[in-house]
Amino acid sequence: MYDFKIAAADTGTMYRDLASALQGLVSGETDGIANMANAAALIWETLPDLNWAGFYRNTGGELVLGPFQGRPACIRIKFGEGVCGVAAQTRQVQRVEDVNAFPGHIACDSASASELVVPIARDGELVAVLDLDTPHVGRFTQEDEAGCVRLADILAKAI
Ligand code: SME
Repeated sequence: MYDFKIAAADTGTMYRDLASALQGLVSGETDGIANMANAAALIWETLPDLNWAGFYRNTGGELVLGPFQGRPACIRIKFGEGVCGVAAQTRQVQRVEDVNAFPGHIACDSASASELVVPIARDGELVAVLDLDTPHVGRFTQEDEAGCVRLADILAKAI
């Protein structure tokens, strides 16, 4: 078992350590599901105040639930629907302060209050989205977004 304990004094350092731990975890492994599973566990263990962390995979133009940590979640999401579907369709990061103010938000867990979804693309194709949920409104900052984009860049080559 890997024992990563990332407890950095500031968010930037934490994401730098998280990125290097993720790079170490996925290097040498070509199985995308295994790499998503370890990534979800690493993110869940490291980032404070999450109630869900995981992936939806692009399977033929529909998002299907992938490896995650947290409560059981919605299995299939159409492109354009909910926060994940909008991220998949637009290929733009969705950082939602308050999910209740997001038209079409899919409430898998009523405890979720804000959400960060990062598209993961390779060779021009959307492969998956990384989805993080939290029970705190406004939990995700610009720094979280930048840190998670970095994680998505690492994962693009590993899933
Ligand atoms: N809330 C998401 C659905 C996925 S769950 O949060 C795990 C959405 O609106 O896309």
